[in-house]
Amino acid sequence: MLVAANLAAAPAVNIEQRIDALLKRMTIEEKLGQMSQSTSLATPLSDEIKQQIRQGRWGSFLNTGNAADRMEAQRIALQESRLGIPLIFGRDVIHGYRIVVPIPLGESASWDADLISRAAREAALAATADGIQWTFAPMIDIARDPRWGRIAESLGEDPHVASVLGAAMVRGFQGESLDRADSLAACAKHYAGYGAAEGGRDYNSAWIPEILLRDVYLRPFRAARDTGVATFMTAFNTLNAVPATGNGFLLRDILRNEWKFDGMVVSDYDAIAELTAHGYTSDARDAARKALLAGVDMEMVSTAYFDWVKSLLQAQLVTMKDVDGAVRNILRLKFRLGLFDGRPAAAKPSDAQALDTAGRLATESVVLLKNSNGLLPLKKTIGKLAVIGPLADSRTDQMGTWSMDGDAREVRTPLAALREMLGSDRVLYAPALKSAIDASTAEFPRALRLAHESDAVVLFLGEAATMSGEARSRAFLNLPGAQEELVERLASAGKPMIAVIMAGRPLAFHRSAEKLDAILYAWHPGTMGGPAIAHLLFGDSAPSGKLTVTFPRSVGQVPIYYAHLSTGRPPGANDLGVPMGTRENPQDYTSRYIDLDFTPEYPFGYGLSYTTFEYSATRVSAPALTSAGSVTISAQVADTGHRDADEVVQLYVSGPVGGSVARPVRELKGFKRVHLKAGQRQMVEFSIRRADLAYYNSRMEFSAEPGNYRAWIAPDSARGTSVEFTVGN
Ligand code: GLC
Repeated sequence: MLVAANLAAAPAVNIEQRIDALLKRMTIEEKLGQMSQSTSLATPLSDEIKQQIRQGRWGSFLNTGNAADRMEAQRIALQESRLGIPLIFGRDVIHGYRIVVPIPLGESASWDADLISRAAREAALAATADGIQWTFAPMIDIARDPRWGRIAESLGEDPHVASVLGAAMVRGFQGESLDRADSLAACAKHYAGYGAAEGGRDYNSAWIPEILLRDVYLRPFRAARDTGVATFMTAFNTLNAVPATGNGFLLRDILRNEWKFDGMVVSDYDAIAELTAHGYTSDARDAARKALLAGVDMEMVSTAYFDWVKSLLQAQLVTMKDVDGAVRNILRLKFRLGLFDGRPAAAKPSDAQALDTAGRLATESVVLLKNSNGLLPLKKTIGKLAVIGPLADSRTDQMGTWSMDGDAREVRTPLAALREMLGSDRVLYAPALKSAIDASTAEFPRALRLAHESDAVVLFLGEAATMSGEARSRAFLNLPGAQEELVERLASAGKPMIAVIMAGRPLAFHRSAEKLDAILYAWHPGTMGGPAIAHLLFGDSAPSGKLTVTFPRSVGQVPIYYAHLSTGRPPGANDLGVPMGTRENPQDYTSRYIDLDFTPEYPFGYGLSYTTFEYSATRVSAPALTSAGSVTISAQVADTGHRDADEVVQLYVSGPVGGSVARPVRELKGFKRVHLKAGQRQMVEFSIRRADLAYYNSRMEFSAEPGNYRAWIAPDSARGTSVEFTVGN
């Protein structure tokens, strides 16, 4: 019979038996150490930290130290601690590592799951070569409020997009198997409902009825779980008055009992201690109790577990079974990662592939919002180009939020790329503002002079990287500082004006948009954003990005999203606001505003190209969908312009009419990127099964109720022709 020590060390024996063997030998302090994650792996390692690692005080470190520190800390854990339990090193590798790709909201606008997966894979290669085994990504919170700073980190407002692209990131990060040297354990976060923060204010309360929680906010997390994501992270917010980090409904009932998740759950930063600030616990001891009983395995940074669980055990407020359950999930992750079995350090990858992917993803993520009279692409024979705005040449802003390992020296800015493309003599540059938030117009005259001297003006507008991300919510969505005045002033030069907007969220810039001839929305495009933007401006590549989040005309419309319910008084196309103070009119009693067009500035799914696409009428293969069968929804898409291009073709469905609940006016059910040559037409088809139509009904059953459904194959959520089909009993 293998004794416990050898059992834990014997790779061939199955993981659960190896965990059992270890648990039998662990002291309570060693167990609580595994449940504790610290951010204090300073460089160089202090004697205190080395001693704590020998004592098994920590199971994991996050976001601190360098590769050498991590290697030394791991050596001490494996060779000098009593049981030789390895550490796991976590880090926010969110959208790239040293080479940064667009912020995730930008990545999502590419709708290119394969490319997004490749970007995650390349980030994993670079991060694991630095001794990191776990990333706190993908962030798959559904975000329908652009005031919320973390919309930048999200994959937008739609659960289907977030499910498909979030799963692609999980596959990319984790690779073929967790125990490979270059596998990075992924983390589905923030579980759950964080993006529904009231007022768009970060960390604020989220109130989500269960039907919406399951139909929308949980769907990407279920997709991540089905893709084999290794870990989950609990959210900071309360969900219906119960903090997610102490929420047994989320962590036990759904994640463990319904979804059978057997990975590891980590709290967010200090989120266990914050249960007291929520008023949900009376002190840290109570917080440790509620978090442990709810199902949080590892505590990030705060020390409630290590400080209080022994006392809770003595008072029989928790049991050793509760503790062992948490430690088991942590050890299972470490075994799966091969950390007990001498997982080798991954080889450092070359940057070439990561730079190529970053360039491609930056190109595909840019959304062409406006292109009057086909102004774009510009011709390289242009005389002089005025480049205006501080974001034309800001390496750090270009990388966007959550790019802690991004190497600014690698960043190619649009100004540098345009100078390289056209020659410095033809590129006239004026920042005009010191930063994105500069309110001074003192430098405008020089910018205006350059505009007069040029044949066209490219104006770089938007937000600094620090204006989005965690704790960076905004009450307004306008172009910050004096940027709107700058647009106004430059328009007086009477030259063709193109705006390239870098931002971490949808902005509301209706007045400026009217003065611009063309608008490219580049998000924060990352390391290769410069060449990507230059190639798009001059037609070496064609924009193909499409919005994964609705753009409001005004912050007053928020929350605004495409998959809304009809209401009993849906506003008609002509209900575009009635001027204030005009005569009342019974026809005006619809769900609209009297002072603004109720429609979005740019709808979900929207994005223009340098060519034009035409969609035939949508067709269905049969009038009824039988239970076991499927129907095919199809439409012919033609490139009716003069250049080859990609188009993201979208499948929407609505219905049923007459079910037990009102259903959204449209819901995305599929999408395909198709490449068409000029003049080419292609039949695009989607197969729909009954299961694809399922939703939670008034009895909280997940099914597709019988009735009439509609389907669209369309270029965005506001256009396209529909076709009807029925679903029987
Ligand atoms: C932060 C974020 C979370 C991140 C963690 C570690 O507060 O909410 O997304 O992964 O702490 O940095």
